[in-house]
Amino acid sequence: MNKERVLSGMQSSGRVHLGNLVGALSNWVKLQDRYDCYYFVADWHSLTTGYADPSTIKESTKDLLINFLAVGLDPEKCTIFIQSRVLEHAELHLLLSMITPLGWLERVPTYKEKQQELKDRDLSNYGFLGYPLLQTADIIIYRAKYVPVGIDQVPHLEISREIARRFNYLYREIFPEPEALLTEFPKVVGVDGRKMSKSYENAIYLSDSPKEVEQKIRTMMTDPARVKRTDKGNPELSPVFQLHKIFSSKQEQEEIVRGCVTAGIGCIECKKLLIRNVFRVMEPIWAKRDALISSPDVLHDVVDKGTQKARKAAEETMLLVRNAMGLY
Ligand code: TRP
Repeated sequence: MNKERVLSGMQSSGRVHLGNLVGALSNWVKLQDRYDCYYFVADWHSLTTGYADPSTIKESTKDLLINFLAVGLDPEKCTIFIQSRVLEHAELHLLLSMITPLGWLERVPTYKEKQQELKDRDLSNYGFLGYPLLQTADIIIYRAKYVPVGIDQVPHLEISREIARRFNYLYREIFPEPEALLTEFPKVVGVDGRKMSKSYENAIYLSDSPKEVEQKIRTMMTDPARVKRTDKGNPELSPVFQLHKIFSSKQEQEEIVRGCVTAGIGCIECKKLLIRNVFRVMEPIWAKRDALISSPDVLHDVVDKGTQKARKAAEETMLLVRNAMGLY
């Protein structure tokens, strides 16, 4: 039975947090049973914005790989690899650069947005402009049909489709136009109530220790109107409740709402329940992380095998591409 191919990647800049878990990785795990999935660490992509200080990339790549396995990606079911170890991505990126109009890259909305956002860095480099082109090469080199991504990545996928179409039109029908598999998930807030993000320093990381997680949740903001234990509150105004919506059962959520609006339970109790439920999700992840950290050979082996398999698939496509573009 030929399963359809799915591909997705994650940039190796910073550690994996609960937002990444709920928003992307859990979905990757689900997809591995139904599709022929390729998942990789996009370490070259982290250089597009982080070129001036690459000191954390290697560590972050390793942490990502550990987390891929710890959250349940199964190397028997999916192919796990590192982008920079499959050089064919770079070759295809170069060849696609020949047929990609600059205007297409310049008008990708994330280009100007990110430049605004990361004002502390000089992002007038060519690699940063080419970010979506490299991403396109990552996807179409495997002739992937579906790409599970968040809504923010949709413009990138749009340009990937355009480039695939242009290649097929100019040379030969080699690439299917990849489609986004939009991940529907509740917004994960950080400990301060804003979106969970490494840049806000409000994230709970999979690499945090139980103590750290407990501490982060215990000191979370709640409804500011509940100053005293006897004050009644509005759970919707508390980021703690936003996390209950993800990690607690419907029944527990109802109890929390009732307890909060009647001042029947205090914020500490409410947080304790959240800590318990977050721990329930994180405990198996922690256990697998510890096991992988103490036997690094397992990780190396998975990555080596995955990389070989990815390279083989990429090489098959490149034979067609070189030929179609008139190379010897
Ligand atoms: N842009 C993705 C991120 O922000 C990483 C990525 C690189 C990717 N290449 C990809 C995602 C290909 C999906 C498909 O982490």
